Amino acid sequence: MTASQAVGDEPGAARSVAIIMDGNGRWAAGRGLSVAEGHREGARALRRTVEAAIDLDVESLAVYAFSTENWARPPDEVESIMELLDETIERELPDLAKQGVRTRFVGRRDRIPDSLREKMSTLETETASNTRLLLWIAFDYGSRAELVEAVRRLVDEGVRPQDVSEAAVSERLYAPELPDPDLVIRTSGEQRISNFLLWQSAYSELVFTDTLWPDFGEAELRAALEEYARRQRRFGAR
Ligand code: FPP
Repeated sequence: MTASQAVGDEPGAARSVAIIMDGNGRWAAGRGLSVAEGHREGARALRRTVEAAIDLDVESLAVYAFSTENWARPPDEVESIMELLDETIERELPDLAKQGVRTRFVGRRDRIPDSLREKMSTLETETASNTRLLLWIAFDYGSRAELVEAVRRLVDEGVRPQDVSEAAVSERLYAPELPDPDLVIRTSGEQRISNFLLWQSAYSELVFTDTLWPDFGEAELRAALEEYARRQRRFGAR
């Protein structure tokens, strides 16, 4: 969506939301727990938030679960996140699918364990006809890598310079169907984008909250949507 299209929209309607889920480690440290426990609680927050998003009429929710830079974390932490995704696919996402959630993954697929890759594809296929909420899980995702890959495809396909357009780049992103977020939320008080959806968030509203991700839920999502609604109304009035 372009800025000029946004002006004409119904005020308050953030239909496409993206979340940088940050603060699991600090949440765990504050309780004397392991980082893995923090991520586990983060997975519970994700389930709560997806259910809240359904209730709040969000149509597309993109969450940043594992970045291309997260491989640099200690191996046991990386392993714990891989296991957590596996468990989430086995236990949580089928429940969410019954509520109409379609899950898709966005990011590289070539560096994750084979069994996990297969489970991701199976879940995508099994939920393909669900329409209540589209959940995008960014995993081994980085925006710069995504843009480099898109450029590589343009070159590979021999696209002529004069034919390189915004549409031509968009069509070659990992998931061209991923809607531009109306709203990007980052938890835990950090105020950065950290290589998440750089192209897609060109016109997004940004909301930063001090809440650590494991404490995030319906109330915090509602508050962020209300903040977005206030900004949209001001933008529309000018
Ligand atoms: C950032 O917190 C969080 C991550 C790098 C992992 C995100 C994972 C989840 C929210 C759990 C759900 C994940 C899956 C796979 C379904 P941090 O560890 O950077 O926190 P810190 O900045 O306080 O250390």
